Amino acid sequence: MASRSDKRGPSYSQLEDGTKKAEPLAHQGAPEIQPYGKIARLPIALDEKVCAASAENLNQILADTMTLRDLYKKHHWQVAGRTFYQLHLLFDKHHGEQDELVDTIAERIQSLGGISLAMAADIAETTIIPRPPRGREEPPVQISRLLEAHEIILKEARTMARQAAEAGDDGTNDLLVSDVIRTNELQTWFIAEHLVDVPLVRADKAKSASAGR
Ligand SMILES: [Fe+2]
Repeated sequence: MASRSDKRGPSYSQLEDGTKKAEPLAHQGAPEIQPYGKIARLPIALDEKVCAASAENLNQILADTMTLRDLYKKHHWQVAGRTFYQLHLLFDKHHGEQDELVDTIAERIQSLGGISLAMAADIAETTIIPRPPRGREEPPVQISRLLEAHEIILKEARTMARQAAEAGDDGTNDLLVSDVIRTNELQTWFIAEHLVDVPLVRADKAKSASAGR
């Protein structure tokens, strides 16, 4: 152990000084700098009312997209049955794509001078997607739930895209059409095809032909 006279080791006073200088200023508090629902105007040549309307719409889409994203992860973990592996992978792929959408939507809200929702409790209060049970469900029920959530988002996104276009908010319109609508339509196709009741090995036609022999 270093003595007080040993210049290579730290002295007691050096330790005390070092502690003070390096100590993080934790436990700070202050009022919010921007209340939720208010616009902090940015020089983007858009009227404040237009920004506020788009931010409010996008927060609804954000809450529903975060809920759908989490629904995909729930199903990724809880899926069961003969198609476990492919659905396990597909659900996680869609979860990742929805997560990218979440970031795009949230940052668009901030770009408009608004405040994006973020925390689970606020999302739960805002989303209009029905809450699933905590337990496991069969794959057709999981997929039906996902299809319903996709359709809720597609319906509101189309309405909101038109509102944004009419108000002159082309950026929000583009995000809703190019990102939200296209992604949700494509994912709907990929999961809806799993509910088409076709034979896996023997075609219906061959079955009926051989039965007649
Ligand atoms: Fe995983």
